[in-house]
Amino acid sequence: MSLTEPRSANTGAAASSSLKITIPILQEKKRNHVPISALTAYDYAMARLVDESSIDLVLVGDSLAMVMLGYESTLPVTMNEMVLFTRAVRRGVRRALLAADMPYASYHVDAAEGVRNALRFVQEAGAEAVKVEGGRNRVELVQRMTDAEIPVIGHIGLTPQSLHRMGGYRVQGKSLQAAEMLLADARALEAAGAVLLVLEGVPREVAAQITAELAIPTIGIGAGPECDGQILVLHDLLNLTFAPPAKFVRQYADAATLVRSAVENYRKDVTTRSFPGDSESYHLPQETRDSFAHASRQRRKA
Ligand code: KIV
Repeated sequence: MSLTEPRSANTGAAASSSLKITIPILQEKKRNHVPISALTAYDYAMARLVDESSIDLVLVGDSLAMVMLGYESTLPVTMNEMVLFTRAVRRGVRRALLAADMPYASYHVDAAEGVRNALRFVQEAGAEAVKVEGGRNRVELVQRMTDAEIPVIGHIGLTPQSLHRMGGYRVQGKSLQAAEMLLADARALEAAGAVLLVLEGVPREVAAQITAELAIPTIGIGAGPECDGQILVLHDLLNLTFAPPAKFVRQYADAATLVRSAVENYRKDVTTRSFPGDSESYHLPQETRDSFAHASRQRRKA
């Protein structure tokens, strides 16, 4: 066993962009008021690009059910599918902390099954943390995962796996009572051992209060700027979701237009025979080419 420390624990402005991000480093960023950047990724190529852009936390979100597999909600994606995608992302991520989302039904029956499934992410896919949706109802699960040395990221507010109970994707915590419930959920998850907390679809004021009260970092999505960090679904910021973006999404590129135009140009070039050109073709060596042409002529004569 090596006792080598991560390359540096410096989280200030001069921190090296090649520093391996760990949970203590993310927690130190909160203490130093350094914002944490997080994004989802689901495959090797995108994971590499995200990691090479020095994003701190890469989440293999169960949002992949919708953006990669075309389902209407996150509910149908299975453990085996999540493990497969996480293994692909693992090969592309070197610097960021890699977290995997526990899919629906992988931890809802009992805590023991939840721990077994979480261990698969760590052992089979190389995840460094797992994320579970829910608040006080997940305390035992979070404790048992933490006991099993699996860092847990909590997720409260608009939890997409609660779609049917919520009656749609609705902002949560809007009444005084609901806001107090969210605070209680956040405190309970922290006390149970959660290392980070995702706040999704909650009023800015509520997210700010939770962020101020907790020692662990909060990562917001649709939760305002006071969170310790922000996460978006990669496909949302690239315009690859085929739906009008939610209010909290900022689109940084139009990859849909880029891909469509590249594919249309390729199709045009194929149908007009302008692709492939001579420079995109392999050639016989000159001597072989002459002999080959000669042999073909002889065959035609015979
Ligand atoms: O599944 C997902 O992508 C998520 C993030 C939006 C936090 O849970």
